[in-house]
Amino acid sequence: MQRKGLVRHIGLSNATAAQVKAAQRIVKIVCVQNMYNLPHHANDALIDSLAQEGIAYVLFFPLGGFSPLQSDALNGVAERLDATPMQVALAWLLHRAPNVLLIPGTSSVAHLKQNIDSVNLPLSPDVIAELDRIGASTPAP
Ligand SMILES: NC(=O)c1ccc[n+]([C@@H]2O[C@H](COP(=O)([O-])OP(=O)(O)OC[C@H]3O[C@@H](n4cnc5c(N)ncnc54)[C@H](OP(=O)(O)O)[C@@H]3O)[C@@H](O)[C@H]2O)c1
Repeated sequence: MQRKGLVRHIGLSNATAAQVKAAQRIVKIVCVQNMYNLPHHANDALIDSLAQEGIAYVLFFPLGGFSPLQSDALNGVAERLDATPMQVALAWLLHRAPNVLLIPGTSSVAHLKQNIDSVNLPLSPDVIAELDRIGASTPAP
């Protein structure tokens, strides 16, 4: 389909590192979409290796999807930064790596504005380390 001009770029979803490598032997892969958010870091190594290859990581469920993120630590950081917990969760993802792209879903214009504003929320190294620990104490899904 790509050779025929029907598809310009090809990405993978729900792919393991081995599956990305296997696909790369067939076609150029430009992006990967797996679940990743504040408590679920299973793809840390994959994100870093994709970043080295210039491949986008367009994660899904940035805000927890059907199970919205809930964390006392996240709430505490949000209160200190005068932001919402979801804004902090998005800002943390944006700090994670340059190849991380966000597609938070929302049916609310107010939430859309808050989500866009998260781009301008600075996180200090101490705050990032505090947020990193949320994932360290969460079992894999
Ligand atoms: N490749 C795959 O297998 C796969 C699987 C699942 C999803 N996806 C894609 O990933 C993207 C994200 O998925 P998603 O939308 O289900 O998950 P999500 O972005 O993690 O969560 C969306 C939920 O968060 C709420 N929300 C959004 N902004 C908020 C805010 N500022 N404050 C409070 N709540 C907020 C939304 O409710 P409101 O409507 O009330 O804002 C909605 O219930 C979508 O584009 C989806 O198509 C891909």
